[in-house]
Amino acid sequence: MIDLDRIGRDRLPALLRAMPKAELHIHIEGSLEPELIFKLAERNGVKLAYPSVEALRAAYAFTDLQSFLDIYYAGASVLQKEADFFDMAWAYFEKAAADNVVHAELFFDPQTHTERGVPIEAVILGLHHACQRAHAEFGITSRLILCFLRHLSEEAAFEVLEQALPYREYLIGVGLDSSERGHPPEKFARVFARCRELGLRTVAHAGEEGPPAYIDSAIDVLKVDRIDHGVRCVEDPGLVARLAALRMPLTVCPLSNVKLCVYPSLGQHQLPALLEAGLVATVNSDDPAYFGGYINDNFVQTFEALPQLGARQAWQLARNSFEASFVDEALRETWLRRLDEVFAGAG
Ligand code: ADE
Ligand code: ZN
Repeated sequence: MIDLDRIGRDRLPALLRAMPKAELHIHIEGSLEPELIFKLAERNGVKLAYPSVEALRAAYAFTDLQSFLDIYYAGASVLQKEADFFDMAWAYFEKAAADNVVHAELFFDPQTHTERGVPIEAVILGLHHACQRAHAEFGITSRLILCFLRHLSEEAAFEVLEQALPYREYLIGVGLDSSERGHPPEKFARVFARCRELGLRTVAHAGEEGPPAYIDSAIDVLKVDRIDHGVRCVEDPGLVARLAALRMPLTVCPLSNVKLCVYPSLGQHQLPALLEAGLVATVNSDDPAYFGGYINDNFVQTFEALPQLGARQAWQLARNSFEASFVDEALRETWLRRLDEVFAGAG
């Protein structure tokens, strides 16, 4: 038995960094750092709206989700060739390895690229080859989750699913992202049903900016395995109880929530309340190049801002990340054992 309560707060930052963890909510296009945007723009002859890396970074002052998405989609326009997708994902895996991420489930937005004439093959194979190299060099396992853009139509989602089917073996599941308000889960009921028939796992952003009712309908209509964000569930105690009873994971992204003004500061984040309610909450980076930090930055800064979070919650969050991941039982057990060893060594 590990005595988690004996581990002092002074040891937390090092422990949070060292503990093995899974990252389950990372938009790979959101890991595109301004330096790489400029490098790829030059390589592909793309003209950017900003004169320098510094000017681009200075524009990362968001007022809500849409103000971020406008800049995020513009940044993704430099991605054209398979090598670009590989380079972007490889840069993420180097950061993930340094943060002791042992497993990552990467979201990607194919419609952002296919709409510009980029073949879906270049997108998926570039990402897949980076995943293969991350396993060979760092021992990181990873999976790809194709996200449908919810501001587009369900018909468009069906089209991109069709294009992706030759690469079905490289995908673990599908997700739903982009502008949440005014685009409820119900809009994608039929395409998600088709994806489930194909054996794909399903996740959806819900309750980030949208109302708690979108979390209920993601569960009831889309039959998702996880909710991305979901933080607005705290507005509905009945929903919190439901999520706890279902052991429905929430992939929470604290720095994102502050950057997109879901909370005024990390000190007001509801992560402690979610854990207290027994929810399977996890910590993730969302779009680390835009929101000021990768997964360990999220862990360290959030724990620093919230005195209710200690070693017990750190252990629980890492444990939850493995419980919520789409991997087989044997691998999950291996990581859970490794996690306990790290905490036993710190106790
Ligand atoms: N696409 C990239 N990041 C997103 C977020 N935080 N919410 C919705 N769609 C996104
Ligand atoms: Zn997200």
